[in-house]
Amino acid sequence: MVISLQSPLDMHLHLRDEEMLDIVTPLSAETFAGGLVMPNLVPPVTTKEAVCAYRERIARARGEYTFTPYMTLFFRSDYTPAFLEEVKEEILAVKLYPAGITTNSEGGVSGFEMDELAPALEAMSDLGIPLCVHGETGGFVMDREAEFMPIYERLATRFPNLKIVMEHITTKEAVAALDRFENLYATITLHHLYITLDEVAGGLLQPHLFCKPVAKRPEDREALLKTALAAHPKVMFGSDSAPHPREKKEAPGCAAGVFTAPLALQALAQLFDEHGKLENLQAFVSDNARRIYGITPPEKEVVLEKTPWLVPEIYEGTVVPMFAGQSLAWRVVSAA
Ligand code: NCD
Ligand code: ZN
Repeated sequence: MVISLQSPLDMHLHLRDEEMLDIVTPLSAETFAGGLVMPNLVPPVTTKEAVCAYRERIARARGEYTFTPYMTLFFRSDYTPAFLEEVKEEILAVKLYPAGITTNSEGGVSGFEMDELAPALEAMSDLGIPLCVHGETGGFVMDREAEFMPIYERLATRFPNLKIVMEHITTKEAVAALDRFENLYATITLHHLYITLDEVAGGLLQPHLFCKPVAKRPEDREALLKTALAAHPKVMFGSDSAPHPREKKEAPGCAAGVFTAPLALQALAQLFDEHGKLENLQAFVSDNARRIYGITPPEKEVVLEKTPWLVPEIYEGTVVPMFAGQSLAWRVVSAA
């Protein structure tokens, strides 16, 4: 069996910088036509110059592959309307992190006082710049996303014309919010469709499956799966592929992040096939994002076939992928 995907998009992607950028960028660029690149570098991407310079570094790292890096800016409440207007043409979205909630988010937002956020968010709303949000509170780790839902609701209500993307949703509560607020959208990762907390910590601890937000309960995974398999028009694939060097993962104080970019399409094909929903994969990995963000990615046809493929144990001796050393049911035949 063979399927063909047109211009797959990864709408939540960490490409990092320096050596890691050089290792992982071609691994996304090989099979994806574009990706929404997260701004949580050290220091974070907060100026037009930094956005443009990072895009240049990505373009160098991608080599000959056809791949559009859609850029983001790290949200700060003190952005002025004039600054946002100036930077608008260089970015597709602005990403908001609660301070300290995940990797390299120390400069994020520390309170969700709507009046304090209003000038920047109103300007974004007027300029048509979407807001992507890492929606977790500082509460108990399993409850962080559910506890964040009232904040999503306040944002969605106060800024009705602002497109708000709930990034890497992990709970049935977030799925339910999609149908209650017109301006709420979501990305769903590969790993949250496959795993619950059991796969991370139910047996021997699996550091390569540890990420933020942590994988949740079976009923949450079911809700995500149902939404993704149906290619709900308000959800997009966003891998949240977040590479860390092996020594930062297989260590006390394991860094959060699952590296999935080079196997994402193969594993998605397997999942959609297992559930008899292959016909919805195109919408989930490309068409929904094109419509929601209003983008036209470069043309790229990716052909996959149902033939076992062994996921490498490690890439460039540095970064260990999800499913390392395991066999997936689908492989990429060609991408061009
Ligand atoms: C991401 C990273 O490593 O940058 N980590 C993760 O666990 N997902 C940051 C993020 O998206 O939260
Ligand atoms: Zn992320």
